[in-house]
Amino acid sequence: MGKYEKSRQLYERACGSMAGGVSSHFRMGGTPHPLFFTHGKGARIYDVDGNEYLDFTLSQGPMILGHSHPEVIRRVNEEMNRGQLFAGQHMLELELAETVQRLIPCAELIRFSNSGSESVQAALRLARGYTGRKLYVKFEGQYHGWFDNVLVSQHPSLDAAGKNDLPTKVLETQGQAASVLDEMIVLPWNDLEAVKRAFEQWGSDIAAIITEPIMCNNGCIEPLPGFLEGLREICDKNNSLLIFDEIITGFRMGLGGAQKVYGVIPDVATFGKAMASGFPVSFLAGKRSVMKVVADGTVMHAGTYNSNNPSIAAGVATIGVLEAGGEELYDRIRSLGIRLQEGIRRAAAESGHNIVLSGPGQMTFVGFSDSEKLENYRDTLECDFQKYGVFTKEMLDRGIRLIGRGIWYISTAHTEEDIDRAIETAFEVMSTMKQKDLAVSGSAQV
Ligand SMILES: Cc1ncc(COP(=O)(O)O)c(C=O)c1O
Repeated sequence: MGKYEKSRQLYERACGSMAGGVSSHFRMGGTPHPLFFTHGKGARIYDVDGNEYLDFTLSQGPMILGHSHPEVIRRVNEEMNRGQLFAGQHMLELELAETVQRLIPCAELIRFSNSGSESVQAALRLARGYTGRKLYVKFEGQYHGWFDNVLVSQHPSLDAAGKNDLPTKVLETQGQAASVLDEMIVLPWNDLEAVKRAFEQWGSDIAAIITEPIMCNNGCIEPLPGFLEGLREICDKNNSLLIFDEIITGFRMGLGGAQKVYGVIPDVATFGKAMASGFPVSFLAGKRSVMKVVADGTVMHAGTYNSNNPSIAAGVATIGVLEAGGEELYDRIRSLGIRLQEGIRRAAAESGHNIVLSGPGQMTFVGFSDSEKLENYRDTLECDFQKYGVFTKEMLDRGIRLIGRGIWYISTAHTEEDIDRAIETAFEVMSTMKQKDLAVSGSAQV
């Protein structure tokens, strides 16, 4: 029986009841096929075939404490016994709100939702409602959820993407309302001059700039020095709002988010993922002067499941553990990430591959590329993602689970031994890939 046979059979069965056999577009495909998992513990996750994986996907980021952290499980269970959803206020919700208010610079007032996509929508509506303006700026290559008005130019081909300094706005899926394109300006990330030019032309109509403070979803690209500060200045000058989408960076870069690390405070920000160890909760945070239009009901925000008990309990527990660990905990995650980066760089050099690496350590991007420059989305197109797909599959076969688009997440549950094992495995895989390449090019020459 093959290594993934039970998963394969279940996947085949799942295709009969679930569209594409999965519950999210991003779980489709992959090699060999979507896997079925039974449980996760710490930095490890297990599938139905009994395979154990060292997990660097961390479920697309949320599991910063690793899988099944005992304090999270305990707190959620305790709260579940009290209730699941009151559709009214409860003490734990207040406790979590006051905690994040204390930790996050821009969080003078907040509102909970269930997913990152929802909080992003709330942020954009707030920006329009507050400024009375229509347009917003988003950056090419950034992902802000799967809804029509943000799923634009997230992963365009170079042919479709148009001019570098003012990219063509590219819809990402069939069925998307094309009218959303009239609401936005798409610009290249890390290019302050392009932003200035856009504001010279449309500034008085621009409600907001929305940006991830680190471009996590394509290349894990950090802002160039002065870029975020420049955005802040442009927004101030034009009375537009600066929105940081911190769905990935929040509670991963540090307790105060990337805004605290970089010292640039947005007007509004969104948080999710790492705040609650896999439970569905997110929040919109903003300055009191801006959030007042949500507070007085002028700008509507709602949701049946908002602040449901288990998710809030998971948030309280997760942030509690992160806060108890403090700077030391974040230093440890970061230094594990740097160890990983150094090791992967060594493994690539010794096995004869050119790679590009980026990211602050808490998360890292690895791509096969002859170019070391990674400043914006178009630079990521230099990477050979097909080759990375082969690498990912070979790593999986050897018990290391990775995300296909190149980002690696580190949790508090990872150890130095785990990192070293991943590096050794990467070396083994890269060496094998090189030998195969050489064999193919050798036989081509014959
Ligand atoms: C930066 C960013 N914003 C928003 C979202 C959407 O969050 P969700 O998948 O919880 O709707 C994501 C998801 O990956 C994200 O990475």
